[in-house]
Amino acid sequence: MTIRANNWLDGIPAYIPGKHSAGHATPPIILSSNENPLGCSPLVQQALANFQNAHRYPDPSAMQLRHELGRIHNINPENIICTNGSDELLQLLARAFLSPNDSGVCSEYGFLMYPIAIKLTGAQLVKIPEIDYKTNLPGFTNAMNTRTKLAYLAYPNNPTGYLPPIYDMDQFIKSLPAHVVLVLDCAYSEFVADPHYHQKLSEWAHHPQIIIARTFSKIYGLASLRIGWAVGAPTIIQALHKVRGPFNTSAVAQAAALAALADREFLIESYNLAKQGIEYLTNELTAMQYHVLPSQANFILVDCGTEERANAFLEKCTANNIMIRGMQPYNLPHCVRISVGTMAENTALINIMKS
Ligand SMILES: Cc1ncc(COP(=O)(O)O)c(C=O)c1O
Repeated sequence: MTIRANNWLDGIPAYIPGKHSAGHATPPIILSSNENPLGCSPLVQQALANFQNAHRYPDPSAMQLRHELGRIHNINPENIICTNGSDELLQLLARAFLSPNDSGVCSEYGFLMYPIAIKLTGAQLVKIPEIDYKTNLPGFTNAMNTRTKLAYLAYPNNPTGYLPPIYDMDQFIKSLPAHVVLVLDCAYSEFVADPHYHQKLSEWAHHPQIIIARTFSKIYGLASLRIGWAVGAPTIIQALHKVRGPFNTSAVAQAAALAALADREFLIESYNLAKQGIEYLTNELTAMQYHVLPSQANFILVDCGTEERANAFLEKCTANNIMIRGMQPYNLPHCVRISVGTMAENTALINIMKS
């Protein structure tokens, strides 16, 4: 007998992150991972500089951070869990709710971690085909059966930037079978302006079958510190506490997240930059005959028409030290994804593509 990992791990692809370097001597322009090009708030930098207790274990339940999130969003802190980035949350949910006899559902072009999280549990993966790069909510409903325990839905979606209309979401949620947990992954929610959207998130946070995932990695600019949070029904949150590690978020990340929450100006500046960048990149690339999908987040998906044209786009950027994201891992080889940078970075990309 030899050692053997669970057989369902065979064939699970590793998550392929966006590249941060092409090996050039000069620092690259990084537009590959939907990070905040402005960095993080000065208040966060101050909190990091003042951080002292590296030798102490962190607060295991991130109590202060949960209370502050609860105060801001008017939620009971008991219904909030903090996690090591929202990636950890996505996996904890699968671990808590899926077993090899169950199935988990996600969209054809949903975030790459969903199929990985589902397959890691040995459960069956059910992917719902998209229509014109749009999440097919009736397709989700139709695919659910007694084996379905978990459904992942990014709202807005990465990599398409698509935000399903609120009415459609309402209908979908009404049709949710009573045994299914719906994960609304709102990693990019701060880039959505519509107050109705945020009102609905507050409403759905009280739904017994919904968990809403949020992150500090995107607009708050804390991707390196690995901190996210989620709000959901007590039964879901209690199950997640059982499967998480005892010290899953670091004290430095908790302190940085608290500082980040205190800087509204930085958030507004980051939001405005994303909108300005999307408009600029969309106009310029459309003029160059690329099909740019409308995006409700801080990135754009560019349909280049053919794999050759997408590869040429990617290679030209890489050769000029601009890192963008190839879409092969998403089975969209004819597309590239570009995270919005500073206006200087966006202009540099456009000038390269025009040259
Ligand atoms: C839709 C979505 N969810 C979750 C994540 C994970 O974010 P993090 O683990 O950094 O919080 C990402 C990161 O790109 C994402 O695009």
